[in-house]
Amino acid sequence: MALLLVVSALLLAAACGATPQTMLEPTTRSARDSLDLLKFVFWSAVGVFVLVEGVLVYVLIRYRRRSGDGLPRQTHGHTRLEIAWSIAPAILVVVIALLTVPRIFALAQGAEADTVKVRATGHQWWFEFVYPELGVVTANELHLPVDRSVEIQLESDDVIHSFWVPKLRGKLDMVPGRVNKFVITPEATGTFLGQCAEFCGIAHALMKFTVVVESEAAFAAWVDNERTARAPPASAKAQAGEALSASKGCVACHTIRGTEAAGVIGPELTHVGSRNHIASGILPNTREGLSTWLSGPQDVKPGNFMVIPELSDDEVESLVTYLVGLK
Ligand code: CUA
Repeated sequence: MALLLVVSALLLAAACGATPQTMLEPTTRSARDSLDLLKFVFWSAVGVFVLVEGVLVYVLIRYRRRSGDGLPRQTHGHTRLEIAWSIAPAILVVVIALLTVPRIFALAQGAEADTVKVRATGHQWWFEFVYPELGVVTANELHLPVDRSVEIQLESDDVIHSFWVPKLRGKLDMVPGRVNKFVITPEATGTFLGQCAEFCGIAHALMKFTVVVESEAAFAAWVDNERTARAPPASAKAQAGEALSASKGCVACHTIRGTEAAGVIGPELTHVGSRNHIASGILPNTREGLSTWLSGPQDVKPGNFMVIPELSDDEVESLVTYLVGLK
């Protein structure tokens, strides 16, 4: 029965197909350590379950009441058995503790030389990423070089959020007034999905981000591009979009380096055109995605703090053209 349950649960899980946010495919040592520990605890629990339920079912059948049975012998307690079933779980708990404690210290390992430092700040409901030593500020898309250690410093601007990229590491809270740090070394290139994992208000479920782990050369190229000011509008339409970004008030909250836009309330947009997603991982960064967002941010992400006046289709079109060009 127990085996049947386990097998059907595994089959069910196997049917899930693509699992971009699974913690069962770790790509860092720290994620692997956590998974190993989880596996040990899981299989121990399976063992305990099978043993206890097996004995229970055996006793129920073997000693069931048969016709003609009188009242069985009445007993109270069984000292040796009771000691045994107190000590056995205690030993298991001690073993789990012995395996857990060193891993907790390993998770808190410090930065190595040549570490990339990132300050990640949680905002309702998006992520800001600052690379203080590289002079890069971006949002909702974290770029990291492969095989190099990265120190990520977590902070919050308002309430408690939680930074969680299941394939890279377990969750760690972003707490206002406190700095949490961790160090990881991504071992595989690719795009990994992350998600805020602490309830932080109405749009909590829509607070996502991506981590792009890339070769050292691709990362260096990305950094070089991020450091430059915005690409000047390449068409009349884009030019109109840039003018609208000022007249419609976008500049009060967003920064677009190279223009008068220097707001620090919303995500920095200097190179927004080069990101995979907009609206904190909610919409693909395409013309359709941008126009959906600008036409009704509250429909996409109810409760968000973006203030935007009603725009005509033409104005949306110009702003989209401008934003797409901010590579
Ligand atoms: Cu931020 Cu949930």
